[in-house]
Amino acid sequence: MTEPSPKGTLSFFKDLHPPKSRFLDDVLDGLSKPQKSIPPKHFYDARGSALFDDITDTEDYYVTRTELGILDAIAGEIAERAGPGAVVIEPGSGSSVKIDKLLNALDNPAGYVGLDISKTHLIAACEDLASRFPGLSVGAICADFTQPVPLDDYPVPDGKRLVFFPGSTIGNFEPDEAQALLETYRSWLRPGDALLIGADRVKSAQILENAYDDTGGITADFNLNLLSRINRELDGDIDVEAFAHKALWNEEKARVEMHLVARRSLTFSVDGRRFSMEAGESLHTENSHKFTIDRFHALAKAAGLSVSAQWSDDREYFTLYWLERAETV
Ligand code: AVJ
Repeated sequence: MTEPSPKGTLSFFKDLHPPKSRFLDDVLDGLSKPQKSIPPKHFYDARGSALFDDITDTEDYYVTRTELGILDAIAGEIAERAGPGAVVIEPGSGSSVKIDKLLNALDNPAGYVGLDISKTHLIAACEDLASRFPGLSVGAICADFTQPVPLDDYPVPDGKRLVFFPGSTIGNFEPDEAQALLETYRSWLRPGDALLIGADRVKSAQILENAYDDTGGITADFNLNLLSRINRELDGDIDVEAFAHKALWNEEKARVEMHLVARRSLTFSVDGRRFSMEAGESLHTENSHKFTIDRFHALAKAAGLSVSAQWSDDREYFTLYWLERAETV
């Protein structure tokens, strides 16, 4: 017999979850473009979030494991920089392993606020965190963090803020969007607060493409789940089997692209609207930008942030950056 998992209590919960029509609008808009595309934030329904967790366990997807190794190695330095009683704010709160490492490293953290687009995943993750860290004040905001979130409208616990944005999620955004996102995070920081962000590095095409096309086919399922989600939630009749997963390194734009490629010509409908695709035509579902150190510094600077420390693994696959508000002269 399995015991129910203990649930911690949240100090607050705010639901800014975008109405369903945003998913619908994004899908209809994206399917109407010459190069069909859907923003990757829509991968993360309950099944998509679970599949992503499975990806992080694959041998090919080095990203999570590498970042966790760096976090282990720098735990002491992080604790020293953050000081006692810090409040961790995590947009895109996902992996309990990462946040546990950070909270365990910190000296008596006072609070945690998780933000995520997937409500079920967010609440489960935050309640779970609250039960594992009984002294911690845990709040949750269900929001699309690519839109400005006025953090000071919510009862964020007092203390030095540490915005934690691991996983190279920053890579999902176009350069101008990435800058806007960092500007939003900067707006949450007061002098002395900090942003700890993980970004994946540029490396060989082979390693990168394998990371996004694992041999077990989990990334393929993750990508294809977007079509199932459209069918489930938006009254779609897409033949999921008619699509193949594809990952490719775009050298010029320094990003891995994921596509869903039609294996044959087909037509389908979504919310009563008809669409057709040629054999070989693709639906572009994700960009994962990779950063050289210089490129990342330039991005931070453009957003009014400065890098005060950075740490990488031995292979230089991944880097964690400690950023603060750049003081304008
Ligand atoms: C969660 C956005 C960081 O881009 O590496 C993993 C998502 N997509 N495999 C990434 C993802 C395919 C992941 N991020």
